[in-house]
Amino acid sequence: MSKAKTNFKCTGCDYISFKWLGCCPTCGEWNSFTEEAVGSGFGESKKTINYNKVNTAQLTKLSDIKNENKARICSGVKEWDRVLGDGILQGSFIILTGDPGIGKSTLLLQIASKIAKSHKVLYFSSEESLQQVKNRAQRLNIQSNDNLLFSDQSSLENIIATGKLIKPDLLILDSIQNCHISDNSQTIPGTISQLREASFYLMKLAKENNIAVCITGHITKEGNIAGPKVLEHIVDGVFYLQGEDRWNTRILRSVKNRFGTVSETGFFEMQEGGLNEITNINQHLLQDSCHAPGAALITSIEGSRPLILELQALCVTSKFGIPQRVITGLDHKRVVLIAAILEKYLHIKFSSQDIFFKLSGSFKIKDSSSDLGIALALLSSYFQKPIPAKSIAIGEISLTGQIKATNQIGIRVKEAEKFGLEKIFVSKSQKLKTSSTALSFGNVYELLNLFPE
Ligand code: TYD
Ligand code: MG
Repeated sequence: MSKAKTNFKCTGCDYISFKWLGCCPTCGEWNSFTEEAVGSGFGESKKTINYNKVNTAQLTKLSDIKNENKARICSGVKEWDRVLGDGILQGSFIILTGDPGIGKSTLLLQIASKIAKSHKVLYFSSEESLQQVKNRAQRLNIQSNDNLLFSDQSSLENIIATGKLIKPDLLILDSIQNCHISDNSQTIPGTISQLREASFYLMKLAKENNIAVCITGHITKEGNIAGPKVLEHIVDGVFYLQGEDRWNTRILRSVKNRFGTVSETGFFEMQEGGLNEITNINQHLLQDSCHAPGAALITSIEGSRPLILELQALCVTSKFGIPQRVITGLDHKRVVLIAAILEKYLHIKFSSQDIFFKLSGSFKIKDSSSDLGIALALLSSYFQKPIPAKSIAIGEISLTGQIKATNQIGIRVKEAEKFGLEKIFVSKSQKLKTSSTALSFGNVYELLNLFPE
């Protein structure tokens, strides 16, 4: 008698293999293959569809589709509401993610208590016990409220049934990785297939009942949220809470937002009583900037607002054959390119210098207007002369050594002037409405005027 055919299926991502494998080639999980009879995976007998028997889709004109003006659920915490796009949209499904211990639960509990002043909120804490939630609430000085109800339920079916029954305005699930689907005993909580399934049902709950659903998810060791970004395409919005090493600052970033702008940022400070919003972030960033050789101020537009950041460069003669380039916060290639441009046109041998670069506030910027600041910081460190005090550089540099105009100059200059910066270095071709503080440069040769012998 022939042996019944079996396949091996990964419990993490449902990958199917003919033979047992130690490590899944798709999700990288170890020891995740289980044997199963053929029929539940591929090799299943294919059903043929009779297209004459199935119902056809109903087609609609644009004018027949009803306008839907969904309300926004505002918390009153400006840094949160702005990043979300003026609060959470009713019926939307969003994820807040970040490293474990970064403050996701703290932030959501604070937001939940503010929203509960005018809306009904359910908070499912699948990760922590109710006692732990209470301890945190006491620390955050959150008072009990009839509109803010908690549960430590981690069964997805129960969470969804409760959501359908109570119909809150906002349902929080902290975290999705810790909730399980009871029906599906074959998979372990937190595996990709469970996350995908759980997200599908939560999305249905949000859309069909007009409940805003906010879930949290930890970033895994590989740096993805809940595995290989499985949730990012399902949800309406993805928000990252990131830490910052010098201060106790937390940055909330919108990475995807179907109902608002992306790359918007919000700033918080972790203190004894929870996360406090920082509304004057530039003052915060500028407070310990210094006037020393190698330092230069630049601007970067993050979402809708300009940030003023300090660049620090250090050039030292290289001791080894290949000079080092250690760059944090900026695009490595951009710094190498600017050094090459300066070497070519100003005949300064940066190729025999080790170059170190840092950006204040643990930011990672891509703004091309930082080129001029990078060039000035490099020259300033090379000549060991500081650039003029209270100055900021805003401009791109072309491969031919020309200083080029940059976009959104108005808001950058306005912000710089607001913080008392008296010299704004820009391109000669930059059109400015009015600014008594602007000093313009045509090409990199003119930068040497800032470093007289
Ligand atoms: P938490 O919100 O539990 O992080 P996550 O949900 O992202 O895992 O935050 C835990 C950290 O925050 C912990 O290290 C203690 C700190 N914390 C404060 O500093 N102040 C506070 O008021 C609270 C509640 C937490
Ligand atoms: Mg948590």
